[in-house]
Amino acid sequence: MPNPNLQISLLKPEEAEQYMRMRHEVFRPTVNNILYSRGEPSEKTLSRVTEEIRDGIVDKGILYIKCVDKATGEIIAGARWRHVKPGKEGAIERTWDEVEAGFDLPEPFDESHPEMLEGLHDLFNSNKREILGRRPYYCLDTLVTLPQHERRGAGSMLVRWGCERADEAGVEAYLEASLMGAPMYARHGFQAVKEVELDLRKWEGKEIMSFILMLRPAKGEQTP
Ligand SMILES: CC(C)(COP(=O)(O)OP(=O)(O)OC[C@H]1O[C@@H](n2cnc3c(N)ncnc32)[C@H](O)[C@@H]1OP(=O)(O)O)[C@@H](O)C(=O)NCCC(=O)NCCS
Repeated sequence: MPNPNLQISLLKPEEAEQYMRMRHEVFRPTVNNILYSRGEPSEKTLSRVTEEIRDGIVDKGILYIKCVDKATGEIIAGARWRHVKPGKEGAIERTWDEVEAGFDLPEPFDESHPEMLEGLHDLFNSNKREILGRRPYYCLDTLVTLPQHERRGAGSMLVRWGCERADEAGVEAYLEASLMGAPMYARHGFQAVKEVELDLRKWEGKEIMSFILMLRPAKGEQTP
């Protein structure tokens, strides 16, 4: 059941910085070790991330969702969903050119190890190519809940939001789960397809990071 003290809605462009700071805090012990393996990101880097979030909302149709604690008005959790779909109206599948265009390598940050970032990119994208092919799907790119607000149902509300849209469109949903997130995703109908690892020690990192690639079957008819 959704938590009545929490409310989810679309993130507004002017809230991009709040979202960036929350994501940065939650990912500090894990994903930040890949994005910023050479050290704490500068304000210039953080501003670039904020700008990318704002641009994603305004110009790219990326679905950033926030979860607000009604009692305080604080944003306590957030998600980044994308509807990956064919460019041509009425098409059932994407073209391979469209698939490949979605895999462009982003410019590394000043604090990134560029090959490490490329390693993550290649790992995730080669698997997307193999598992999803040209099919349309909803992709959960990011899910973060502030540690002090864990286990209140925020993550589940944000996952359900995207799953409902995937069901309306009649398409699958996909994500690369952390080991922490996987059991919760399973409760929402995601099934583990494959476990993958990124050995950060290849690029002067300290650890091996594991992810579980998960797919949620489509329900109903695909609507173009
Ligand atoms: C995974 C995460 C998104 C869950 O968010 P949440 O708001 O706590 O989610 P919910 O309250 O809806 O669900 C709770 C479930 O999440 C998992 N979870 C939440 N906090 C956890 C913790 N501290 N340790 C282990 N599992 C945890 C558990 O499966 C939990 O279910 P349980 O209480 O029955 O064990 C959140 O803990 C988080 O941001 N973690 C760090 C970043 C991350 O791993 N994101 C997922 C990337 S794919």
